[in-house]
Amino acid sequence: MKILVLNGPNLNLLGTREPDIYGYETLADIETEMKAVFPEVELDFRQSNAEAELITWIGESRGIFDGIIINPAALTHTSLGLCDALKAVGDIVPSVEIHLSNTHTREEIRHKSLTAPACIGQIMGFQGFGYTLALRALVHAISK
Ligand code: DQA
Repeated sequence: MKILVLNGPNLNLLGTREPDIYGYETLADIETEMKAVFPEVELDFRQSNAEAELITWIGESRGIFDGIIINPAALTHTSLGLCDALKAVGDIVPSVEIHLSNTHTREEIRHKSLTAPACIGQIMGFQGFGYTLALRALVHAISK
């Protein structure tokens, strides 16, 4: 099984970025944890600050990946393009949306996700640990 893990803008700064909200784990720590918990799953772990690059990666996923885990970061709340990209491949490449923070406890602008309707489910509020939960959920959904 091959899973694409996508991380959006500013997530390259995890570890030092508002750690009270996002935790002290870096993206590299999260990747290591996911690989340790699911050694049998092939993970392609990526981060981009550019919406266009994320959209391109999603569009190229058909026929290569079995599923996507995506933290669209701030693009969650703004990007219809990302939603469309996830929907475009969603018939054979299902996605799970992940957020480190519980966005519903934060500013109102973060309460709405434009990308969640294109995903089979969403996990939020458990900081870096949520990525492993998202992977477990996605593997379960794909294996059904
Ligand atoms: C985030 C939540 C977003 O609102 C924010 O813009 C992020 C990170 C999270 O993982 O909690 O960059 O996606």
